[in-house]
Amino acid sequence: MVDRKHLEEQLKNAFYWFHENPELSYEEYQTTEKIREFLQNYGIEILPYDLETGLVAIVRGAKKGPVQMLRCDIDALPIREQTAFPYRSKKEGKMHACGHDMHIAAGLGCAVLLQENREKLHGTVKIIFQPAEESSLGALKILETDAMQDVDLVWGFHADPTNDVGVIGIREGYVTAAVDRFVITVKGIGCHGAHPDDGIDPILVSAAIVQALQSIISRNVNAFHPALLSVTRIHAGTTWNVIPPEAVMEGTVRTMEREDRILYEKKVKEIAEKTAQAYGAEAVVEWIAGPPATYNNKQMADLCEQKAKEHGLQTVPEESSMGGDDFAFYEDENTMGRKVPGCYVKIGTGAGCPIHHPSFEVKPEVLLPTAEYLTEIMLGGSLEIYKKLQQ
Ligand code: NI
Repeated sequence: MVDRKHLEEQLKNAFYWFHENPELSYEEYQTTEKIREFLQNYGIEILPYDLETGLVAIVRGAKKGPVQMLRCDIDALPIREQTAFPYRSKKEGKMHACGHDMHIAAGLGCAVLLQENREKLHGTVKIIFQPAEESSLGALKILETDAMQDVDLVWGFHADPTNDVGVIGIREGYVTAAVDRFVITVKGIGCHGAHPDDGIDPILVSAAIVQALQSIISRNVNAFHPALLSVTRIHAGTTWNVIPPEAVMEGTVRTMEREDRILYEKKVKEIAEKTAQAYGAEAVVEWIAGPPATYNNKQMADLCEQKAKEHGLQTVPEESSMGGDDFAFYEDENTMGRKVPGCYVKIGTGAGCPIHHPSFEVKPEVLLPTAEYLTEIMLGGSLEIYKKLQQ
């Protein structure tokens, strides 16, 4: 039996180390080694995948049952930390400002506790320490292996600085949005600023496109569906008296429903191309698809609720966000070849600065209870859920 006090101490120390040594997306080499070392100390099996960064641990239960997956993302952000913690970042300009250091430590704790409870565990649990969540596409690295092929249920969690330790946000349905990015290049004809009639002004065309794009939400999308479009960058010109030949704008579209995602892609292209055409210019639209929306399965959300109550945790309705998480790829039919039921909960980590803020903080006392809570979810009831979902 693992001594809980000792485990708590170890999880805190691991968390401090990860916080002090943040690594950006696709560069999580030391992080991966530290995770490996921790797991090996407890004799936990690591699957032999050829991943550049990140790894997949596995706990095989003594009883028959489903294959479950717990996703823990491991990357940090290019943010200069502004806290006074003794364990603040030692790497200039890099910081665990999204709580992924807490995700790693809680995931490690969960692996240890599941390993200890192998006799009670139905089926298998894969704990995925996933790289590059902040890039929106790190999950695809895991999906390049066959780690997800036999997975029946997927679980995800995220640090939540809007709630205190001991509060869990849970909701059935959509919790994060589909994330798409677009780049529109407007090609006009450059000329003297005093002789616009000699050219075609791509800045005027861009302004018309930006305005028209906002009509999609008000005129085309079902008014009951959350969706948004933001143009976040626009670049054109080099000086005050020259009309440039080209303007480039970039932005993001966030949707929950699949049909809206398809609609937006079609409308953005149509509006950009046809508006440009009306002005005698040309627009080229590049569409870069990110993760789909995360959808919480009802039975799984109910189990999270039940286990929270049994564990003495308070539950609140999880806030849905127009932010994204590449966790959604593990549920998605397109990437998985089938729909996989999943659930993604928010773990209160102490009310304070929001995620991605230079003073973001996770209270270390959340680590062991989170590991215990996640373990209870995976040990208890998952077999029943699996049976229900099979019917
Ligand atoms: Ni995050």
